[in-house]
Amino acid sequence: MTHVHGGGRLLCPAVSAAARTEPPVEHGLARIRQLWTLFRNEQTDPEPFYTVLAREAVADLDRRYGPLRGQRIVDLGSGPGFYARAFRNAGADCIPVDNSRDELELAGAAPENHVLADAADLPFEDESVDGVFASNLLEHAPDTAGIIGEIERVLKPGGWAYVSWTNWYSPWGGHDMSPYHLLGPERGPALYERRHGEPRKNTYGEGLFAVHIGPTLRLVRQFPRLRIERVEPRYWPKLRFIVAIPGLREVATWNCVIRLRKR
Ligand SMILES: C[S@@+](CC[C@H](N)C(=O)[O-])C[C@H]1O[C@@H](n2cnc3c(N)ncnc32)[C@H](O)[C@@H]1O
Repeated sequence: MTHVHGGGRLLCPAVSAAARTEPPVEHGLARIRQLWTLFRNEQTDPEPFYTVLAREAVADLDRRYGPLRGQRIVDLGSGPGFYARAFRNAGADCIPVDNSRDELELAGAAPENHVLADAADLPFEDESVDGVFASNLLEHAPDTAGIIGEIERVLKPGGWAYVSWTNWYSPWGGHDMSPYHLLGPERGPALYERRHGEPRKNTYGEGLFAVHIGPTLRLVRQFPRLRIERVEPRYWPKLRFIVAIPGLREVATWNCVIRLRKR
C-alpha cells in the first residue's frame, strides 16, 4: 500500500496503486451487503469500496445524462481520482479538481490533467462544462454556497451536476469522531477531543464541517439558474421518501445526493 503524506491532514484514506480485480457487480440486498463489507474495510483497504462507488456513479450518470463520451466533466474534490478514472473509461473528458496536493497524490502520482484549485473559486470559463460531479466534497469544505455558485456559473445551459455528501447527523457524519457528532457540531467534536485528542484526520472546522440536508436544499434553491431534479439517499435511492421528511432525513439518509440541472 502506498502512503503519501505531506504536511497537511489527509481527508481521504491512502490507497493502493496496484491494479486489482474489480469487485463483482451486485444488485439489491447483495449490493447493500457488498457496500457495507467494503465500507467496513475502507480505512485499511479503500480501493474496492471507491471502485464500486465510482463504477455505479458513472453508469448511473451515463444512463441519465449520457452518453458521457466526449462530455467535459469537472470532478470537484477529486482526491486521487477514482471517479475521474471511471469517467475517462466511459470516454469523458474529465478534469479532476482538488485544493490539496497531498490528496491528489494519495495513490501515487496525481491524476493526469488535474487542476489544483478551490472548488469555490474555479479557474474555468462561464458555461464551459457539461457536467459537474462533486462526491463527498461539501462536508470537507467551509464554503458550500461558494461551491454551489461555481457549479451554477461553469455549467452550460442544460448541463447537469451531481452533488453528494455525508450529512452531519448521518451515522458517519462525524467521520472518525462518530458517534460524538450526534451531540452537535459544537459539543460533539469538543467532547471527542477532550477524551481522545485530535482525530486522525478531518478535524472539525478544518477538514470537516456540519452540512445538513434541509439547509443545503434551501440554499441551492436560492440559485436561480439551478433546478433540483432529484434528491435521494446515495446508498439506498429506492428509499427516496426519506429525504422528504425533515428530521428523519438528517439521520437516515447517510449520504445525500442532489441532482441538478442548469436552466
Ligand atoms: C473525502 S475526499 C472525496 C474524494 C472523492 N471525491 C470521493 O468521493 O471519494 C474530499 C476531497 O475534497 C477536497 N477538498 C476539500 N475542500 C476543497 C475545496 N475547497 N476545493 C477543492 N477540493 C477540496 C479534499 O482535498 C479531498 O480530496
